Amino acid sequence: MKILVILAHPNPASFNAAIARTVVQTLTAADHEVVFHDLYAEGFDPVLPAGEVHKDAALPPLVAQHIADLVAANGIVVVHPSWWGQPPAILKGWLDRVLRLGVAYHLPGPAGSGSPQGLLKAAAAVVFTTSNTPPLREIDLYGDPLKNIWENCVFRVCGVSHFLRKNFAVMAMSTPAQRQVWLDEVATIIRGTFPSRKI
Ligand SMILES: Cc1cc2nc3c(=O)[nH]c(=O)nc-3n(C[C@H](O)[C@H](O)[C@H](O)COP(=O)(O)O)c2cc1C
Repeated sequence: MKILVILAHPNPASFNAAIARTVVQTLTAADHEVVFHDLYAEGFDPVLPAGEVHKDAALPPLVAQHIADLVAANGIVVVHPSWWGQPPAILKGWLDRVLRLGVAYHLPGPAGSGSPQGLLKAAAAVVFTTSNTPPLREIDLYGDPLKNIWENCVFRVCGVSHFLRKNFAVMAMSTPAQRQVWLDEVATIIRGTFPSRKI
């Protein structure tokens, strides 16, 4: 399978970067074809310009490449920290520019007034996040906004039927041993979601 992996973290030495490396290594070991985009390393510009909003707009090559990779993907993995209960701006902008109308979803009905219909062929999406808020406090105070964003606002709209999200917390209190356990969990989730192509 072709799996698209997206990392949104500015520090290559971060735990998020370690998660992304584990994802890529696990998928590669299972003989999947991996397309990896490190948005900060690529200098992805997250600002959607007015000229790109129209469905049939001409697109710059980097955006067109990201769209081609998204459309071709059988599975999607996203890795990012929770920043203000949301994805970092670079990743929010990636959604704005890459998950376009006519690419990721279709709006039927008069003037697009109908419910969105998903267009992505990816059957599964996994989102790994990290945060510093203890899980119970996160649920009590904020209701887990990242799950709502990714599951309901993004992947359900785009037609990705199988969704799995795993958050690791509390990052600030975690030991190297705890982080290794978490990375092992990442590998287990990836193997379970995208089984090996080897016989
Ligand atoms: C700009 C910014 C906003 C943040 N907002 C939140 C937040 O809303 N909730 C939370 O639990 N942690 C928040 N954090 C903490 C990060 O989630 C935490 O530093 C990160 O998950 C640690 O992973 P890393 O070691 O890979 O950077 C924020 C950190 C930054 C820099």
